[in-house]
Amino acid sequence: MKFALNVDHVATLRNARGEGVPDPVTFALMAEKYGVEGIVVHLREDRRHIKDRDVYKLKELIKTKLDLEMSISDEIVNIAIDVNPDLATLVPENRQELTTEGGLDLRRKGKEIAEAVKKLRDNEIMVSLFVEPDIEVIEMAQEMNADFVELHTGAYANAIKDLEIEAEFEKLKNAAQYAHRIGLGVNAGHGLNYNNMIEVAKIEDIDEVSIGHSVVVQSLYFGIEKAIVEMRNLVKQKS
Ligand code: PXP
Repeated sequence: MKFALNVDHVATLRNARGEGVPDPVTFALMAEKYGVEGIVVHLREDRRHIKDRDVYKLKELIKTKLDLEMSISDEIVNIAIDVNPDLATLVPENRQELTTEGGLDLRRKGKEIAEAVKKLRDNEIMVSLFVEPDIEVIEMAQEMNADFVELHTGAYANAIKDLEIEAEFEKLKNAAQYAHRIGLGVNAGHGLNYNNMIEVAKIEDIDEVSIGHSVVVQSLYFGIEKAIVEMRNLVKQKS
């Protein structure tokens, strides 16, 4: 399993003062030095954290790979085509939300999403769809020619009671296994932290996890090196 770091919240802190620091690009380059295997950013339509300049700089400077999280709006799809990231992860976007709230609604928005997938793939960009760990939805993602799915781990991360945690974990595990079996790459993310990652690391069918908030918080407390090395160790631990 690989560890990709989402640096959106470094940009959130930078934007709080309207100055250049902390710079999400510098943070990403340091994180690569300490062992992250990919960088993720979400270029939101409202540009509330990551700005266009960040995406272009990351593409130019990082040595691992760039996963661009994005909506299916024409403006953002055109930027993605111009940037040419290693992966475009399509997510639902709603202006009022604090963060991405759920997986893509492939049942209701299938046509628009399929068009965005086609446009990106026609430009030789691999596409991942952020979806709930639901077998039917994963089948739909495959029918839309997605290369990857990113399984939404939010329900697992937010579960409190043991039975609920177990049930959500089983859903994730089965969804990852199924997606792999039908030939999709499997990423996972949202709400993963230094506790719940211990179990998620055991799901062998997950190729890569995308983690942001918990690692940025840990970096503030203990420094970036310790935060990255500790999470990387957890991600690599299979049992
Ligand atoms: N994956 C997706 C699709 C996301 O939208 C986010 C949040 O930006 C993450 C992963 C990372 O979530 P977190 O910041 O909770 O680790």
